[in-house]
Amino acid sequence: MSRERRTPAASRVVMTEIVLPADTNNYGTIFGGRLLALADKCAAMSAVRHCRRPVVTASFDRVDFLRPVRRGYFVVLTGEVTATFRTSMEIQVTVEAEHPERGERQTTCLARVTMVAIDEAGRPVAVPPLEFDSEDERARAERAAERRRQRLARRDLEAF
Ligand SMILES: CC(C)(COP(=O)(O)OP(=O)(O)OC[C@H]1O[C@@H](n2cnc3c(N)ncnc32)[C@H](O)[C@@H]1OP(=O)(O)O)[C@@H](O)C(=O)NCCC(=O)NCCS
Repeated sequence: MSRERRTPAASRVVMTEIVLPADTNNYGTIFGGRLLALADKCAAMSAVRHCRRPVVTASFDRVDFLRPVRRGYFVVLTGEVTATFRTSMEIQVTVEAEHPERGERQTTCLARVTMVAIDEAGRPVAVPPLEFDSEDERARAERAAERRRQRLARRDLEAF
């Protein structure tokens, strides 16, 4: 019997948005918060594609904005699940700015988001394990495990 393989590629989401005036600051470039909201949405859809359940955002790693994105540019976000744990998933979202006429793209930021699958009562529930198409993907998931350890240590340290 065939079934959908739960690989990073199967979870991939590509979202394209245009930067409108309402998305920009006084310098004509996109608000960082707007970009984070788009990355969150992209990560959530990717996580749902993997586990086919509702998810919530547990954590956003530090995000560096490498270059500004100007009004009128396209923002292309690509999200995919890089690792699964018991109830949580790490999703990597890369954000590129595309010049609308020339089509050139430049990476603007990379966000790593942890999403947790939940049941009807909002309790965390187990997700299916990620399957890999390559050794690179497997190695990437191993690196994600170390990042998860650091996130949880930080959460426990910063709990108030
Ligand atoms: C995320 C949430 C479901 C975790 O619930 P919890 O009661 O702390 O449950 P647990 O401690 O069992 O954690 C569940 C999973 O979340 C992970 N997790 C929790 N906090 C985390 C953090 N800060 N960073 C990374 N992973 C985290 C745990 O590692 C665990 O994953 P695992 O099962 O794969 O090991 C809960 O804190 C919540 O609902 N938060 C609000 C989410 C929300 O509203 N987000 C929108 C933006 S505010």
